[in-house]
Amino acid sequence: MPGLRGPSDYSQEPPRHPSLKVNSKEPFNAEPHRAALLSYITPIDFFYKRNHGPIPVVDDIERYTVSIGGLVEKPLEISMFEIRRLPKHNVVATLQCAGNRRTAMSKTRKVKGVGWDVSAIGNAIWGGAKLADVLELVGISKHSSFSALGGKHVEFVSIDKCKEENGGPYKASISLRQAANPEADVLLAYEMNGEILNRDHGYPLRVIVPGVIGARSVKWLDHINIIEEECQGFFMQKDYKMFPPSVNWDNINWLTRKAQMDFPVQCAICSLEDVDVVNQVKANIAGYAVSGGGRGIERVDISVDGGKTWLEAEKYQRRNIPYQSDDMNNDKWAWVLFKATVDIPENAVIIAKAVDTAANVQPEKVDAIWNLRGILNTSWHKVQVRRASRGMNSNL
Ligand code: MTE
Repeated sequence: MPGLRGPSDYSQEPPRHPSLKVNSKEPFNAEPHRAALLSYITPIDFFYKRNHGPIPVVDDIERYTVSIGGLVEKPLEISMFEIRRLPKHNVVATLQCAGNRRTAMSKTRKVKGVGWDVSAIGNAIWGGAKLADVLELVGISKHSSFSALGGKHVEFVSIDKCKEENGGPYKASISLRQAANPEADVLLAYEMNGEILNRDHGYPLRVIVPGVIGARSVKWLDHINIIEEECQGFFMQKDYKMFPPSVNWDNINWLTRKAQMDFPVQCAICSLEDVDVVNQVKANIAGYAVSGGGRGIERVDISVDGGKTWLEAEKYQRRNIPYQSDDMNNDKWAWVLFKATVDIPENAVIIAKAVDTAANVQPEKVDAIWNLRGILNTSWHKVQVRRASRGMNSNL
């Protein structure tokens, strides 16, 4: 690819904020402390970074192009300049790694994969061109489900060198129906929170597929293929699939499951650690709640007595504007922050669970959704707190 290359070692990694919790150094996988998620828009420095290889380098942005080919009548090479000339859209969307909260799932029964606390998630303003507009340039009209030559899937191929792909690039696909639907808001994004995308997050160009697990939002885009079957890459076929608890590494058959796309309803308390001490009788419980597929958040319930009784938390996206769970008045792809002031008993297990607009609710226990790769741990989020005796204010 002219202008963009994928290094084979980690000598050219970008600088990162020192407060990130590094879950793996090479490839670099890191998440912020929970409190960083209490602002509606996650600052770029504190946005989780999820990589499978060394970060690509742009040598010459003037020479950078994305080629669009496969089952299309008018294949195209499009430059950054031309992409920027297409109508620009800003979409507020939550990106969540399917492995978010994996560490907690592993405590029930060991799972394979990089460990994450509750912060493999962030909410950003993504700026770029709609994929539906770009596909029109190669002859695929909006709202179509297949191309004239029979393509049904849109594959995004990067340039990074991943060991899971035997040194080949990261790739993934989505259905052409989703890609060509302007309301699905799939973007080729070149901005994040109003700034040029940085290297960690996909500079110069990445895909953003709102409402879908982060694995499909391919960074450092090199080419787009219109194909008949979904992408056959490792991360679509041998990873990021949801298996039942009975499947283990001896009886797994990857072909039996579909590649995971939409993520389910999720929430987490970010104002407290899993085991914490609070100084006052009343405490603020705050965190995020989000659902995939464009579903809004209907309710977040909080319990301080292990789930016997519940109270409803307040929800908001923008300051002073009450959140409404429809897609006219809110940021449909974005998370909702919640807060509630509760009386803390002497020793309490505080629980948060969210309900989305389809009345999907988080499962109580992790056992029911345990899966060997540890994806999509959406079980009730629990923190154990103790009220500090007078004069004491340290963490347990
Ligand atoms: N794209 C490429 N090229 N390489 C990757 O390793 N990781 C994916 C996705 N896109 C990945 C990628 C995964 S698993 C996630 S969760 C998101 O990028 C993370 O995006 P972020 O690092 O910008 O938060």
